[in-house]
Amino acid sequence: MRRRARDGYTDDQAVAVPPARLGHVVEVQPYTPQTIVGTATITAQALIFRMSEGRRAGASTASGKPDNWDDRRMTRTDGHLLDNRQAEAAERFEAFATLFDPTTFRHLQALGAGPGWRCWEVGAGGTSVVSWLAKRVGPTGRVLATDIDTSRIAPAGRPPVEVRVHDVGAEDPPGEGFDLVHARLVLVHVPDRERALHSMVKALRPGGRLLVEDADPALQPLLCPDEHGPEQQLANRLRHGFRQLLARRGADLSYGRRLPRLLREAGLRHVEADAYFPVTSPACAALESATVRQVRDQLVAAGVAGHEDIDRHLANVASGGMDLATAPMISAWGRKA
Ligand SMILES: C[S@@+](CC[C@H](N)C(=O)[O-])C[C@H]1O[C@@H](n2cnc3c(N)ncnc32)[C@H](O)[C@@H]1O
Repeated sequence: MRRRARDGYTDDQAVAVPPARLGHVVEVQPYTPQTIVGTATITAQALIFRMSEGRRAGASTASGKPDNWDDRRMTRTDGHLLDNRQAEAAERFEAFATLFDPTTFRHLQALGAGPGWRCWEVGAGGTSVVSWLAKRVGPTGRVLATDIDTSRIAPAGRPPVEVRVHDVGAEDPPGEGFDLVHARLVLVHVPDRERALHSMVKALRPGGRLLVEDADPALQPLLCPDEHGPEQQLANRLRHGFRQLLARRGADLSYGRRLPRLLREAGLRHVEADAYFPVTSPACAALESATVRQVRDQLVAAGVAGHEDIDRHLANVASGGMDLATAPMISAWGRKA
């Protein structure tokens, strides 16, 4: 059945690009400065490449490795306050899936994602979006899932999914000719988010779709918009401190609202955007609990709160008596000319 996608293209038109065009994306190549491989298949050669790439970026240490290099995991860990390898990261990814997957999937479906599509999922984090895309594109499609830390996504790395370590703000795109490029809650954390956005646009085929979804905490900065008691005040104080930590790491807390303009400036057509945020939900409480436990030491070290405040807040969250919200997530999409 031919179904008309939101931007006027039908599914049939969208999948008319020969699969061969993306062949190099899904095959392991000889290593060149433009190619990398994923954690699942990483080799000494790849490690050497990534170290030399770190030197190119001017980030090397005396050992010749980027100063953010993690030998054990072969991932980069900087620039992102919330390390994917910590146990709480899995809880956070599950909460993101519960809270935001329905919105994301609605957009991806409306953009026409379907059989045979070649997709790049940027900053994939967990497995829910990648698994959904894998089902949509089927055996004739491809889903390239990249992240600076692939520890949570690696288990999804079987056809049609390929997992690669890749820094979207510092490296060339890992392929070209994609029908769809998607990033959710990623660019806000990337120091060179302008380069990242241009890289994502560059990777699209003409007519390919970009969907960028990012938070705009400055639009709605409160964890408890209904601040009616001391529990909610404490919650909002901790949230404010957490946001300050993110901003000090280079996060742009007003990024979401800029997306439509940035997509147009990057040359995309038919740009539209909307926003979603839950005002109260058990998943918001799960997300808050995991986040605060994950950044507890940083909050204390930055003088935002003491351990007692944090314990009290975590108990308040666990009691289920507060209405906890998130920042709005702005979804912006467009089509490459
Ligand atoms: C808040 S999580 C969102 C994960 C997932 N996209 C989701 O919506 O559930 C941000 C993800 O972006 C990744 N990330 C941060 N900086 C990145 C970069 N420069 N390049 C690629 N991924 C990056 C993190 O490792 C993490 O997995």
